[in-house]
Amino acid sequence: MSQSGTGSKLVPAIQAVALTKEFGDRVVVDHLSFSVRVGDIYALLGDNGAGKTTTINMLTTLLSPTSGDVYISGYHGVKQAEQCKKSFGVVSQDVCLYQELTAYENLIFIADLYGINRTHAVPRIKQLLAQAGLADRANDLAGEFSGGMQRKLSIAMSILHNPKVLFMDEPTVGLDPASRRQIWLMLKELRAAGVTILLTTHYLEEAELLADRIGIIRKGNLVLEGTIDELRAKIEGIHSISIRLGKTYSAEELKVKIDKLLLRLSTDITYDPVRNTISIAQPKDAQLVPCMQTVLAWLETEKIVFSNIATNEPSLEEIFLAVTSSSPAAN
Ligand SMILES: Nc1ncnc2c1ncn2[C@@H]1O[C@H](COP(=O)(O)OP(=O)(O)OP(=O)(O)O)[C@@H](O)[C@H]1O
Ligand SMILES: [Mg+2]
Repeated sequence: MSQSGTGSKLVPAIQAVALTKEFGDRVVVDHLSFSVRVGDIYALLGDNGAGKTTTINMLTTLLSPTSGDVYISGYHGVKQAEQCKKSFGVVSQDVCLYQELTAYENLIFIADLYGINRTHAVPRIKQLLAQAGLADRANDLAGEFSGGMQRKLSIAMSILHNPKVLFMDEPTVGLDPASRRQIWLMLKELRAAGVTILLTTHYLEEAELLADRIGIIRKGNLVLEGTIDELRAKIEGIHSISIRLGKTYSAEELKVKIDKLLLRLSTDITYDPVRNTISIAQPKDAQLVPCMQTVLAWLETEKIVFSNIATNEPSLEEIFLAVTSSSPAAN
């Protein structure tokens, strides 16, 4: 494998090759291989304990892998550790900042750490404080900030040195909807500026909104990967067809009608009396179109009055549940 560290778009921004971590006899990350293209936002999803933080810790060289390799911007995590470390920033799962320093002093501290002189650091810090909505709080102690403000400050700290690659472990955990949106905007601006971002999240809506590609890990293995549309296509049988009825049928009447549909289509059919809606799951082995045709024919022969019929695409949450509940969980 040729790795040059030239910043070429052909070289992935992040690459994990058969990355493995064992703690004692427990394999927490198991030959995990994936790569993130330059300029993409990649969301790593998985249950609690799936191995997301351990993976990020290995990718950011905080933790040595038991085996396998890491490349960031083409630089090997061990053999080219110096160049590798300079090319990325990290926002860890727990906010890391100096509580007894002001927001400004925290940022100056990071600038000194990276050897950025004051002439360059001061305007950059002002810009970052404004971007994070903290310009008027620059001289307040970070320890007195709310959780959301601390998180925004820690993001500013992680991008101060203009990294090409950013790792974010649950960047919006515990934030109110407005702060979460602000961070989403910050991430989109970073992507527009060409920064590659790998984030983990338990908010599937966040991954769906932000990510160019999504990887779902389970027990340290990548079980599904792709764009949201590719993920949808890979999971068959979880579209649903919903029919809003145009009149109210008695429970007995409905049961007789639904039983007739069940003879044609062996699947889950539920009725929601609040919405007066029948929901029909697409059977795993059937294509959506013939399934829809069967339903339409059934509506006609049973003379069912309905006001609306719709197909629902699986949400990322449904995909995630389908993948993560397909075999018994360990851990
Ligand atoms: N230092 C350690 N020593 C022993 N086991 C560890 C250590 N760090 C993590 N683990 C184990 O590795 C597994 C994966 O943990 P990890 O923190 O990577 O999960 P995660 O996917 O980030 O979960 P969460 O969504 O809860 O943050 C867990 O079973 C955890 O107990
Ligand atoms: Mg974690």
